[in-house]
Parts: sequence; structure tokens; C-alpha cells
Amino acid sequence: MSPGAWSGSLFLGDEMAEFAGKHVQDSRVEMTEIVMPNDANPLGTIFGGRVMQLMDIAASIAGFRHARCNVVTLSVDSLEFSRPIRVGDAVMLHAWLNWTGRTSMEVQVEVYSEDLITGERARTSTAYFTFVAVDPQGQPRQVPPLLPLTVDEERRYQQAAQRRAERLQRKEREEN
Ligand SMILES: CC(C)(COP(=O)(O)OP(=O)(O)OC[C@H]1O[C@@H](n2cnc3c(N)ncnc32)[C@H](O)[C@@H]1OP(=O)(O)O)[C@@H](O)C(=O)NCCC(=O)NCCS
Repeated sequence: MSPGAWSGSLFLGDEMAEFAGKHVQDSRVEMTEIVMPNDANPLGTIFGGRVMQLMDIAASIAGFRHARCNVVTLSVDSLEFSRPIRVGDAVMLHAWLNWTGRTSMEVQVEVYSEDLITGERARTSTAYFTFVAVDPQGQPRQVPPLLPLTVDEERRYQQAAQRRAERLQRKEREEN
């Protein structure tokens, strides 16, 4: 059976269905905030740390929704702030799973700004978060496999698998 042929929950009990796999859409997150003066630097644009916090929140909600247990942030990479976001603008965050391993997940987060007066929107940041699902003792625990459905989801899955291999190679190099 192809991995995307069914979502499982139609045929199995909830627990078994979880481990048959889940789709990207099942855990996708969309969040909107407004930039307040206390989020801003002296230039009147949002602090990078505040954007990182919002990204971590959006990404972790996607991880929680997929794993349905506690998840912790293991790493963040390719984080870029390509445009400033001004006080009074809306910040929109989109987060979705690209890939799952046995206990880890890659979540992609994209951030957009919206000028609420003109409606102009721009992508301002993107990053890849790795989360690990943990049990109550903080030990890694298994997550349901991600089942890519569309051509784009399959492409993102393959690219994420490649990035994960590179992360592990980098970790090994740095440890030796
Ligand atoms: C996340 C944590 C539980 C992982 O513990 P660990 O002993 O390294 O666990 P493991 O070696 O079994 O690795 C767990 C998973 O992470 C992956 N992993 C480990 N290091 C990695 C790295 N540098 N990059 C990508 N994946 C990595 C492993 O391959 C494994 O994935 P898999 O099960 O999908 O194959 C532990 O490092 C931790 O508690 N970190 C602190 C988390 C935290 O406090 N975050 C901030 C606040 S939420």
C-alpha cells in the first residue's frame, strides 16, 4: 500500500491509527500576531529574538500535534531574517512537518509580515527546527511516521532527509 493511500483513523482504533502514520495537514499550524512596541528594537522593528520565540512556538505546536506528547527543540538551522517587520505590522507564521525519523521530526517555519494598512505582504524568515518527542522522564519516544501525500510534500520529505543526514554528519565531525 502506498504510504499516502489512507489516514488510518478510518479503519483502526486511535492509537493504532497514530502509528499507521499521519499527514502533513494533520499538524499544520498558522499563527498571527501583531508587533507591539515592547517587541521592538530602537529602529522600531521587531527583535530577532521575539521572531525566534514565535517560530519556536509555532513549530512546537506542529510537533505536539503530530506526536501528541511532549516535544523538545533539539536544533534550529538555516534561520534567516531577510526583511524587517515594523511595529504595527501583523506577523503570520506557518509551520508544518517535512519529515519524521523514529523519535525526531523536522518542522519548517515560514514567517510573513503584513502591513495592515496597505495589505502588502512579504516573507521575512524561514528556518528548519528539529524536535524530539519525549516521555515523562525526558527520554526520546517514538513518533507516528509522516505520510507525504502531494508531490511537494514528497519533495520536502526527501530534502529534509538529506538535511538530517548532513546534521548528523556535522555532529559527528564536531564530536571527533
Ligand atoms: C533532545 C534530547 C532528548 C535528545 O536526547 P539524545 O540522548 O540525544 O537522544 P538520541 O541520541 O536518541 O537522539 C534522538 C533523536 O534525535 C536525533 N538527533 C540527535 N542529534 C541530532 C542532531 N544534531 N541533528 C539532528 N538530529 C539529531 C537522533 O538521530 C534521534 O533521531 P531518530 O530517533 O529520529 O532517529 C536531549 O538532547 C535533550 O533533552 N536536549 C534538550 C532539549 C531542550 O531542552 N530544548 C530546549 C527547550 S524545549
